[in-house]
Order: sequence, then C-alpha cells, then structure tokens
Amino acid sequence: MDNEQIAKTKIDRERMPRHVAIIMDGNGRWAKQHGLARMFGHRQGVETVHRITEAAAELGIRYLTLYAFSTENWNRPQQEVDALMELLVDTIAKETPTLMKNNIRLLTIGDLERLPKSAQDKFRLCMEQTAANTGLRLVIALSYSARWEMIRATQQIAREVQSGTLRTEDIDEAAIADRLTTHGMPDPDLLIRTSGELRISNFLLWQCAYSELYFTSCLWPDFTVEEFYKALIDYQGRERRFGKISEQLKTI
Ligand code: IPE
Ligand code: IPE
Ligand code: MG
Repeated sequence: MDNEQIAKTKIDRERMPRHVAIIMDGNGRWAKQHGLARMFGHRQGVETVHRITEAAAELGIRYLTLYAFSTENWNRPQQEVDALMELLVDTIAKETPTLMKNNIRLLTIGDLERLPKSAQDKFRLCMEQTAANTGLRLVIALSYSARWEMIRATQQIAREVQSGTLRTEDIDEAAIADRLTTHGMPDPDLLIRTSGELRISNFLLWQCAYSELYFTSCLWPDFTVEEFYKALIDYQGRERRFGKISEQLKTI
C-alpha cells in the first residue's frame, strides 16, 4: 500500500463531514516556485480540483464547496482576471463528463451575473445537465464574498419586512440562513485552507461559525488526495463541543 492508501484506511466512514469547504490558495506561489507565469499555477490548480472532487465523491461526502474566485479577486490585474475567466469556461466544459460519471451535481454561489456571459452560460448549462445527479454536490464559489452575501440577504429581509411578508420578530437564525446563497445546505463541518495563510478572506463567515478549521502550508497545486485524507483524519480526531462541555457529549 502507498501512503495515500494507508491514509485512506484511517478514515472513519461513519464520521464523515457532511460538508467540506476549501479555500484553494497558493497557485501563484506554486508557479513562481517553478519559474512559471501565474496562469500555469491556476491551470495546475484545476488538476487538484479534479482529484479532490473525485476523492470527495468517492468517500460519500455530501457537499464540497470550493472558493474559486472572490469578490476581491476582481481587483487583480485585468490580464489575470481575464485569463482566469477563460480557464473557468474551458474547465467547466471539459469537466462536465467527469461530473456525470461520478454522479456529481454542480451548484454555484456568488454573484454569477458579474461573470462574462460565456462563463455564466457554461455554468448554467452544467448545472442543468447535472441537476438530477444524486451524489456529491460540488459548490463553486464564484465572485463570492461573505459580506456581499450578507448585504444581499439584509436587503432582501428589509424588502420583505417593508412589504409586510416578514415580521421583524420572526427574523431568526433560520430566516437569515434561508436568505443566504447557501440556503438548504448544511454548514461546513470542515474548512480547509492551503498555502499557509491563516485567514478566512471573506469566505462563508456566517456558515463557518462552528466549522473546524484546518490550515496546511501545502500550495493548492501540490495538495494531493493523501493531504486531503490527512485533513479528514485530523478533523475526525477533534471534539466538536458547540459550547457544551466534554462530559455532556459522552452521555448522548
Ligand atoms: C488561489 O491562488 C486562486 C485564486 C485566488 C483565484 P492565488 O492566485 O491566490 O495564489 P497565491 O496566493 O498568489 O500564491
Ligand atoms: C482567497 O484567496 C480567494 C480564493 C481562494 C478564491 P486570495 O489569494 O484571494 O486571498 P487573500 O487576498 O490573499 O487573503
Ligand atoms: Mg492567494
């Protein structure tokens, strides 16, 4: 057995996270390390997306959310933004058969309208084509930021209160969660960030209130299935107390 297979045997299939979210970071640094232009890092990063998505589907994880492009990423040099959009379009078309083969349903969160029309069309088509798939839900965060999403939800709530369809006293956690782009999804159990940065960068701030955080210095293009398994094993070794004390959990 190789290291990947050994790690796989250590995963407890009874205690899988239902939802894993990943901040895929470090493509640019990977390219630099290899003396290449940043775009080569992004292209290599797509290979990692392919590997990790298949591994997650195979393990029976229900939701995998990948942070692909943030609201703040629009501020990168125009050339990089354009090339990333092109890469997204190519990737989604190329990967649709893989999604079908693995019974994966594609979903997106974020301000899709801000993407070039060609990218929007490709994503919408892929979402339609995979809509009946019942396995892993692959959620791609595109032009997404948590604060953008919270502003949007707040505006919607204000409109509903104003029109009389929602009472102020009925605004509770569920009412807010229902108006976020992730409505209907369980909160992430595990949030992984690659590349050694120790920050959240405006990702799923509401939803990650109680997520377990896992940071690795591994750059995203170098993130292997074995590294992914290691993150899952680490997660399974944690005690999620949700504010309670250890003894309370053992009596359940
Ligand atoms: C993550 O890699 C991909 C995106 C944000 C689109 P980066 O491009 O941020 O890589 P680094 O952080 O510069 O190494
Ligand atoms: C976060 O990565 C966004 C994505 C992975 C899409 P960044 O590389 O943009 O994050 P910061 O700005 O360095 O925190
Ligand atoms: Mg980065």
